[in-house]
Amino acid sequence: MSKERAVSPRAVASPSASEAPDILPSGNKVLNGSGHTALDPLQVYLAQRKEEVDRLLQSYLPRTSCEPALIHEAVRYSLFAGGKRLRPILCIAACEAVEGNVARALPFAAAIELMHTYSLIHDDLPAMDNDTYRRGKLTNHKMFSESTAILAGDALLTATFTMLAEKGLSGSISPRRILSIILELGAACGSAGMVGGQLLDIASQGGEEINLDKLVKIHSLKTGALFRASIRMGGILGSAGPKKLTALTRFGEKAGLAFQIADDILDVEGDAALMGKSVGQDQSKEKWTYPGFLGLARAKKEAETLVEDALAALERFGSEADPLRQIAKYMVDRKK
Ligand code: IPE
Ligand code: IPE
Ligand code: MG
Ligand code: MG
Ligand code: MG
Repeated sequence: MSKERAVSPRAVASPSASEAPDILPSGNKVLNGSGHTALDPLQVYLAQRKEEVDRLLQSYLPRTSCEPALIHEAVRYSLFAGGKRLRPILCIAACEAVEGNVARALPFAAAIELMHTYSLIHDDLPAMDNDTYRRGKLTNHKMFSESTAILAGDALLTATFTMLAEKGLSGSISPRRILSIILELGAACGSAGMVGGQLLDIASQGGEEINLDKLVKIHSLKTGALFRASIRMGGILGSAGPKKLTALTRFGEKAGLAFQIADDILDVEGDAALMGKSVGQDQSKEKWTYPGFLGLARAKKEAETLVEDALAALERFGSEADPLRQIAKYMVDRKK
């Protein structure tokens, strides 16, 4: 087990309720065997990692006092509205799984969240999903304006790569490794990845029947590709050998697809207040989704099978991959 691993669900003892840090909402407290309130170790892990990521993003991004103030307000508005920070956390957990240096990987993991937030701002635009709420607040274009939201997304997308380059220049990871994670992220989010998936998602809306293969493709591209890349980036930053990187890639593909199926399911039966975004949107926009295509029960079964496949990919990993395993289960069990 790596000495550099800052936290692990197994290493975190279950403190009493009175010791619960303030950052954890009460929903994270569970009853332990003795009937006392304890903290769910995975939630402690996620909260601690989220805090580390947020600290880095806070210090990297220009303040709202920087000119032009409006663009920095709009960027910070969406970035710090909440969000689970799952992609950076998976990157870190993948680095842990290969016993890499987590502290060195953290700034690169954090940069992934800039890319993700850009994708959300643009996904919500009137020309895309036309949504009103995101992360418990008005969407960026509702709060500011369409042009500001487009530009805030552009600024975040650009900042992703400047942050990777800047942290690469000031850190001790080899330039070759930094270039390979930049390539990983760029390829996953461009026309052959997330952007391509978003185009297929919009193009198939309200259109003729599609088949399961096409649905897998849309979901794997629009959402799976960034999860896969985040996990591979963690492996690369942690100096994973080819076999481990292949296993992490398979894990990322399966878990990433499962995540989008869970998102589709939550759009049908989730709690909008908990999720911070409207539900029932997919059906009203005639989106192609797993529950729409397979029905809720089969969609749930499919998500579970994908998580089992993801876990099977990590068979040869030891307990250092436990955070990754637990996050994969959470990706489909989550309520938000
Ligand atoms: C929402 O992602 C967009 C999808 C790919 C389904 P998340 O559910 O990870 O959103 P945040 O970051 O926690 O807000
Ligand atoms: C979003 O998928 C995928 C990307 C942002 C790339 P959805 O459109 O299903 O995400 P939500 O439901 O709006 O969060
Ligand atoms: Mg969408
Ligand atoms: Mg959407
Ligand atoms: Mg959705």
